[in-house]
Amino acid sequence: MKNKIELITNEINDFKIEDVKALENFRIHFLGSKGIIKDLFSDLKAVPNEEKREVGQLLNGLRTVAEEKLAKYKEQLESSSSQENSIDLSRTSDDSNVGSRHPLMLVRSEIIEIFSRIGYTVSEGPEIEDDWHNFSALNFAPEHPARDMQDTFFIEKGENEMALRTHTSSVQVRVMENSTPPIRTISPGRVYRNEAISARAHCFFHQVEGLYIDKNVSFADLKQTLLYFAKELFGEKAQIRMRPSYFPFTEPSAEVDVSCSICNSKGCNVCKYTGWLEILGCGMVDPAVLEASGIDSKVYSGFAFGMGVERITQLKYKVNDLRLYSENDVRFLKQFTAGI
Ligand code: PHE
Repeated sequence: MKNKIELITNEINDFKIEDVKALENFRIHFLGSKGIIKDLFSDLKAVPNEEKREVGQLLNGLRTVAEEKLAKYKEQLESSSSQENSIDLSRTSDDSNVGSRHPLMLVRSEIIEIFSRIGYTVSEGPEIEDDWHNFSALNFAPEHPARDMQDTFFIEKGENEMALRTHTSSVQVRVMENSTPPIRTISPGRVYRNEAISARAHCFFHQVEGLYIDKNVSFADLKQTLLYFAKELFGEKAQIRMRPSYFPFTEPSAEVDVSCSICNSKGCNVCKYTGWLEILGCGMVDPAVLEASGIDSKVYSGFAFGMGVERITQLKYKVNDLRLYSENDVRFLKQFTAGI
């Protein structure tokens, strides 16, 4: 027995512990519940009584040697691994490759921000619309030629006609149906029209349309709101002018031009030497549209306006081809990194 204890003492001393795995093997082999030292303690029963005391002491000593070695290596391995994981907080960070915001989203956010400063909320609605919200409620009679103004992608024809919305005016109908004036909201979103894709037209684009309904809203309010918007977006010097136009849902209707900020209205190829750039359509909401959505047109009046985000982005960033917006060419997109 004494010999055995000596042999095992040597074995413990010679055991190489270089990693956590070896440490665990060491523990199981010598100190585990089925380990060598435990076995030796059970053998103690067979030792003659007069030797028991001495052998017992030797065994206790052996266990202490094993436990001390285990504790020592455990501490060593833990401290070295924590050194490996320690972070140098003073080091400058690596260059990270961050993406950029899409120019259309930058401009969309800017437009939303400008209108939210004068109390407009944001409303959103479905991109697949029924005939009522996209056309009928907006005063497009069933066979009205005005429906041709917006070449529609139909999903289902006939009684349950469904189409990709051609403008976000449909969202405004939903807002009018579900709330009582005063209403002051803008509806940004993607819209679809069946047009041949070129530098100047695309089959999908983005709009921000606005709606203001309250008592005594006048055309002068519309004009001031749009002038405020133009100055916020294009700078303090911006001027606007209105030209008569036609939309089924507004009466009177107008198209709005902003003074060309690229040439300071002196005339350049962007404004085609007119000094003006067309940016949006607008008008006083037709009383028939208010009534169709359950708003009393004798009590309330309102104005609406709608603009294309692509067009505004084109003017702000001098983008000369609409297709660039959806081609995902990083050489184009990278130019907007500073906008993050
Ligand atoms: N909905 C019109 C369009 O898509 C824009 C517009 C909105 C015009 C509101 C007038 C008033 O072209």
